[in-house]
Amino acid sequence: MAEKMQIEEFLGLVRSRRNARKFKPDPIPDEWVEKILEAGRWAMSGANSQPWEFIVIKDQKTKDKIAELLLDDHKRTYEIERTRVEELRHNAYRKMPTELPPLRMAPVIIVVVGDRRTMQASVLYSRFVFGEGGPAASYFKNMGNATQLMCLAATALGLGAQWCSVTSGWEESLKALLKVPEELAIPTMVPVGYLDYKPAPPYRRKLSELVHHEEYDRSRFRTGADIYNFLLELRGRTRGAYTPDAPRNP
Ligand SMILES: Cc1cc2nc3c(=O)[nH]c(=O)nc-3n(C[C@H](O)[C@H](O)[C@H](O)COP(=O)(O)O)c2cc1C
Repeated sequence: MAEKMQIEEFLGLVRSRRNARKFKPDPIPDEWVEKILEAGRWAMSGANSQPWEFIVIKDQKTKDKIAELLLDDHKRTYEIERTRVEELRHNAYRKMPTELPPLRMAPVIIVVVGDRRTMQASVLYSRFVFGEGGPAASYFKNMGNATQLMCLAATALGLGAQWCSVTSGWEESLKALLKVPEELAIPTMVPVGYLDYKPAPPYRRKLSELVHHEEYDRSRFRTGADIYNFLLELRGRTRGAYTPDAPRNP
């Protein structure tokens, strides 16, 4: 019985986490930030390589500079995104971004720093075999695991957290701003704080569409046309997630 309650509580937490896109500036206790970092520290990593380090940022001037760098990157992203047919464009880039991203309002931004040299912890074979998406794939998975656990921990504390990707378009400028050594990288950031909006309803594919038993059920394989329709539908379903101020369905 106790186990069942635990799993339901856990699934409740997993389902209630939403990627936060607008924050109240209200401060959060340092002990809570510590709990979030603790969750990141316990992430799974290939060969237990633990490539992560975290920079906790509260200084408004630094947050503003991060937001400026991110806005520049959003503008570059938009230029590429608009080369796509309109119906497939990512919802965050339907218009040229002009405003500083809301992460600057979050009381804390956790910058997730990674050390690729730790990839040597894994078997040497993985350096030569380009399975799994290339030699750096397991490093990125490790960093993603830490990022996701911190987002979940923030949810457990009643806070919002955002998975914010740091692309190569602005990673070097961010590293320079935060004095991160050349050998290290910044794949993600996690702004955390109280949510300042009601998130759009979540969307996930149904289990019955994606679980196979014993072997792949070919009758459920999605054709290219199915994927195209999925993407079209996805854009419709997720539009609200990128426009926090839009009115919500009850
Ligand atoms: C690899 C990866 C990259 C992501 N990059 C961003 C990002 O740069 N900015 C952002 O706001 N959300 C980002 N997200 C969050 C996703 O957009 C979000 O998880 C997804 O739309 C589902 O919404 P939900 O988390 O609210 O359920 C990223 C998530 C992952 C796993």
